[in-house]
Amino acid sequence: MTQNHKLYIETVGCQMNLLDSELVVAGLRQRGYELTKDSKEADTILFNTCSVRQHAEDKIYSALGRLKHRKEHQPELLIGVLGCMAQKDQKQIFRRAPHVDVVCGPGQIGRIPDLFDQAWEDRKPILAVSRKRQDGTRLDVSDSFQSYDPLRDPHMRPTPFQAFVRIMFGCDKFCTYCIVPMVRGPEQSRSPESIKREVRTIAEEGGKEVTLLGQTVNSYCHNENGRQVRLSDLLCQIHDTPGIERIKFVTNYPKDMDDALLDCVHDLPKVSPYLHVPAQSGSNRVLQRMKRGYTVEEYREMLARIRERVPESSVSSDFIVGFCGETEDEFDKTCNLVEEARFKNSFIFKYSERAETKAHQRMLDDVPEAVKRRRNNELLALQTQISLEDNRVFTGEEVNVLVEGPSKTASKQGEEDHPYLQLTGRTACDRIVVFHGNRRLIGEIIPVRIDATSAVTLFGTVVTYEPDTTTLSI
Ligand code: 5AD
Ligand code: SF4
Repeated sequence: MTQNHKLYIETVGCQMNLLDSELVVAGLRQRGYELTKDSKEADTILFNTCSVRQHAEDKIYSALGRLKHRKEHQPELLIGVLGCMAQKDQKQIFRRAPHVDVVCGPGQIGRIPDLFDQAWEDRKPILAVSRKRQDGTRLDVSDSFQSYDPLRDPHMRPTPFQAFVRIMFGCDKFCTYCIVPMVRGPEQSRSPESIKREVRTIAEEGGKEVTLLGQTVNSYCHNENGRQVRLSDLLCQIHDTPGIERIKFVTNYPKDMDDALLDCVHDLPKVSPYLHVPAQSGSNRVLQRMKRGYTVEEYREMLARIRERVPESSVSSDFIVGFCGETEDEFDKTCNLVEEARFKNSFIFKYSERAETKAHQRMLDDVPEAVKRRRNNELLALQTQISLEDNRVFTGEEVNVLVEGPSKTASKQGEEDHPYLQLTGRTACDRIVVFHGNRRLIGEIIPVRIDATSAVTLFGTVVTYEPDTTTLSI
């Protein structure tokens, strides 16, 4: 059924959500929906939500609150809440925001075009969610999280030449603080064939960089004819896809960082030597309460292996401060790890208690907010100092940059369409590089010489090689 609807979508959270939004938009565009960047002209407003921290949920509930008045004046407006918060809060969303029409969990997103057809027709609230982990056998629950990945839409990508490819669904690690295993379901690895097909399609559509996604991407394991295909095998299989120039993968689980994978990262030229491997804490007692499944000594051993086998790599991490019972001494141990590990960067979060997790059921969220905030700032200051020192080393060096588009400054100053402008891009090691250049460079991988650095950015000049005139015959 082709319809004339205008669609506005707001996405929060991780790269999985960005990818899900691409797939939702792809499905709806096929049904004639037109995407708009202005929510005021839309008749369909969607929120793709995150529930990893309370703050992300609060933001969505207040955005929904702001729409209440509008719906009173525009009753035909269709409001949808998708993603992790939809799976977690389910009917509660209708209770808190009765003007919402559709609540759809991440495992049901492929049904959205049909659900919306139904919603336009009878305007009854629709709830589409997957089974909870305890509601059936593992197979029943897995089956209720459906794959809809082959449906893609290049228009929704971060840039036309960069795309995410999901290689796994869900998570089975059950870290005690984390809601993801509950809202994204059991760990399931997609078949290598479907992944390869998708990468080929992306390349044919002009994609140059693919980022393979999984909650614990290096736990990828697909059984094929009695043989296990691991991430290292998959990387080898997609490496030679014509048109693909860079391959990245996030996020890694420390325990599954095996040597075969590290050797692949070192040996395969298109695989970026960038490894995001969240440590979460530098204290064994905290790691145990988090049920991360490794000790700090094992994490250090893994880092040493990374640096031995992939010396050119950059490593980044995530940390949670103020987890249940975290003492000053335990926090100091995290600072020691950050100081010693010299991560390229770290994402630092204050612990946010999540209902349904083991930490919520069994532990006390007893670190005061002010202490969490102070620890967050301290750790961030430490990491920033390290990033600053690390980046300084690049001054005078030449790096290869995939040019992504106008820099934030160029966009803010309304210079996006100028032929010569400030551009931004990334190195294979995921460092952000800003420089001036011709907009024709967007989408190319080019050499840039670094002139100055900050903790998060390298500033440079495009390297242009003079033609070698000595070989010219007159
Ligand atoms: N509170 C704070 N941070 C969390 N993360 C996951 N769950 C929580 C929580 N309850 C962080 C972890 C993870 C990142 C994506 O979010 O550091 O690696
Ligand atoms: Fe959450 Fe742990 Fe799974 Fe990461 S590995 S998604 S932190 S449960």
